Amino acid sequence: MSAILELKGLTKRFGGLAAVNDVSFAVPEGGIFGLIGPNGAGKTTIFNLITGVYKVTAGDVLFQDKPITNLDPYRIADAGVTRTFQNIRLFKNLSVFDNVLTACHMSAHYSLAEALFRLPRFGREEKLLREKAGNLLDIMGLSDRAYVEANNLPYGLQRRLEITRALALDPKLLLLDEPAAGMNPDETLHLMRLIGEIRSRFKLSVLVIEHHMDLIMGVCEHIHVLNFGCTLANGSPESVAHDPKVVEAYLGAEEEE
Ligand SMILES: Nc1ncnc2c1ncn2[C@@H]1O[C@H](COP(=O)(O)OP(=O)(O)OP(=O)(O)O)[C@@H](O)[C@H]1O
Ligand SMILES: [Mg+2]
Repeated sequence: MSAILELKGLTKRFGGLAAVNDVSFAVPEGGIFGLIGPNGAGKTTIFNLITGVYKVTAGDVLFQDKPITNLDPYRIADAGVTRTFQNIRLFKNLSVFDNVLTACHMSAHYSLAEALFRLPRFGREEKLLREKAGNLLDIMGLSDRAYVEANNLPYGLQRRLEITRALALDPKLLLLDEPAAGMNPDETLHLMRLIGEIRSRFKLSVLVIEHHMDLIMGVCEHIHVLNFGCTLANGSPESVAHDPKVVEAYLGAEEEE
């Protein structure tokens, strides 16, 4: 299977600290790939490097075999890479529907003039976008809350809404940063199943960060483990879970908590 995303010797230094140190891995096309590691391991920094939020110190990021290293974030999003954030980012005072609709607008094709003068193409597009937003809410099980203010959604559903907004941008690769953070075990299990469904339905690839190893064992086909910015292990969930280096890193981290 070919890779949709490939990191080659990716390195990011902040002053003297190598937050990400010579990390290489490949996310297979259509795969669900897990990136795990203790606090401060460099997981979110890797997302910020892939999406162009941080400039790479060394190494390369290839998306569909083309370099996207250090491109502007909007160009990387346009190419088909979208993400969610570790801290939820929503328009808190807008309804659930409007949160998704504004994201749909970002992938719309009409010009500003057409929108301003409400030309026919704008009207047609607008109707299609509203349909698209409605469909996404259906798929994600949020339709019955469409007119609730995002602020008033339970936490687990806010996380789901954020994923819905990312899907509205028509990604080929979806990056999820700790999507289950703050969820109870039931919500987490439901979310993990949903990620599998999203992958099949939208025919996309997923790179998911998790802090807790057990959560993603069931959903990922492949896992990459980081510790202090470096690769600790890489392989199937089973091989990684039984790797003594991984077990030690996690036990060490738990003792510190
Ligand atoms: N903008 C920044 N400036 C300086 N240091 C940073 C910056 N961003 C991250 N770091 C440092 O890089 C290291 C990796 O941070 P990162 O946020 O990538 O970890 P993480 O694996 O996502 O951890 P967590 O599980 O806590 O979210 C940490 O030591 C962090 O303090
Ligand atoms: Mg993080």
